[in-house]
Amino acid sequence: MGGLYEQAVQVLRNNDRGGFTAPAQGLYPYQWLWDSGFNAMGWLHLDERRAWQELFSLFEGQWPDGMVPHIVFHKKQESYFPGPEVWGTVGRGCASSVITQPPILATAVRYLYEHARDHAFARESAKALYPRILAYHRWLYQARDPNRTGLVAVVHPWATGMDNSPAWDEPLRRVPTEGVPPYERKDLLYAKPEERPRKEEYDRYLWLLYFFRRLNFDQRAIFRESPFKVIDVGFNAILHRANQDLYALAVMLGEEPHEIQEWIVEAQVGFQALWDREDNFYYSLDLITGRRIRVKTSAGFLPLFAGIPGEGRARRLAEHFREWVRHVRYALPSVHPLEPSFEGTRYWRGPVWVNVNWMLAEAFWDYGYDDLAERLRNDTLELIRRFGFREYYHPKTGEGRGGKDFSWTAALALVWRLLTRDEDAPAA
Ligand code: GLC
Repeated sequence: MGGLYEQAVQVLRNNDRGGFTAPAQGLYPYQWLWDSGFNAMGWLHLDERRAWQELFSLFEGQWPDGMVPHIVFHKKQESYFPGPEVWGTVGRGCASSVITQPPILATAVRYLYEHARDHAFARESAKALYPRILAYHRWLYQARDPNRTGLVAVVHPWATGMDNSPAWDEPLRRVPTEGVPPYERKDLLYAKPEERPRKEEYDRYLWLLYFFRRLNFDQRAIFRESPFKVIDVGFNAILHRANQDLYALAVMLGEEPHEIQEWIVEAQVGFQALWDREDNFYYSLDLITGRRIRVKTSAGFLPLFAGIPGEGRARRLAEHFREWVRHVRYALPSVHPLEPSFEGTRYWRGPVWVNVNWMLAEAFWDYGYDDLAERLRNDTLELIRRFGFREYYHPKTGEGRGGKDFSWTAALALVWRLLTRDEDAPAA
């Protein structure tokens, strides 16, 4: 079996599909966008070239207009639904989904660049990836913020990466279900029904997918007409952080960063609309109703990862964090435990996710809340030790849920150096 370090390495190696990492065997057999960012950072500590390869593989799925899809279907796999033929993209370049996912890519590239030992290779790779990421961010603003609010919209819960978050319940209720062809879910072959979305949500996910197909993937029409249209605070926080990392890369590579600077300034203004003065918390915004979605989810902390809040608001968020964790054993539940929609077992409706813990710990360190950052790191380590490299964990009991031997859990453990080789040495 080996120690935890060896096991983390093994998880990544076993999920390696030759140039890209499947998030988990069976359940997620393709390449996912934000998983790739985290997985690339993990690979860096094992195999630098393989780390860069992860990102190059993802960009094989980039669309001519700049969009980077949330799933790239490199090779047809039977274990996943909805596959490329359902999305209707077979034969359109590299088959993929038609929506995107939290844009963590510039952050990953900066991480690889700054932690590289092979500097020449890192520079060459970063130089090749830079224009592709720039084109991607441009697409985000053109297609998803045509009115220049500084914040970009998402048109499908899957694009938020936090697919089943209760923040999407109300906006999703407006999505019809009529006309969705019969389908067979495959996720339930790999995870228990109580850990996965319900049918009423799944029908709506698929309705949106078929709707985008009917619009012929015309992104302007999709933005205009989608019945699901939200400004996700998590997505925008990750984008804002990515813009700062892209700016840093531009400077390092001698590129002109003016356009990126504009995005940064505009987002700083845009984020003001997401802060709720009554609750002292950040919420997503429903663009159909124009109202903030006042469900407390872990995404509301992510503006810290982007350096958005000043000292006062950061203090408020730190207070929220301390209050949230009083109700659980492990930080951080994805939904406040007293929310009526909280479910400790169902994905994105309560469980702890390692990628969110990592982003938030980075943020708390930057803001000087070292105790909170350490709490996140220690809790994550204990979860992994006791329950393995799972997709998510129950915040009260710690039990592992969803996919087993999950790639980003292993990758981020390596990034955090939670698991040093020394641990594996036999006790003296
Ligand atoms: C689930 C998650 C999403 C993730 C994907 C692959 O759909 O909600 O965030 O990218 O699995 O791990």
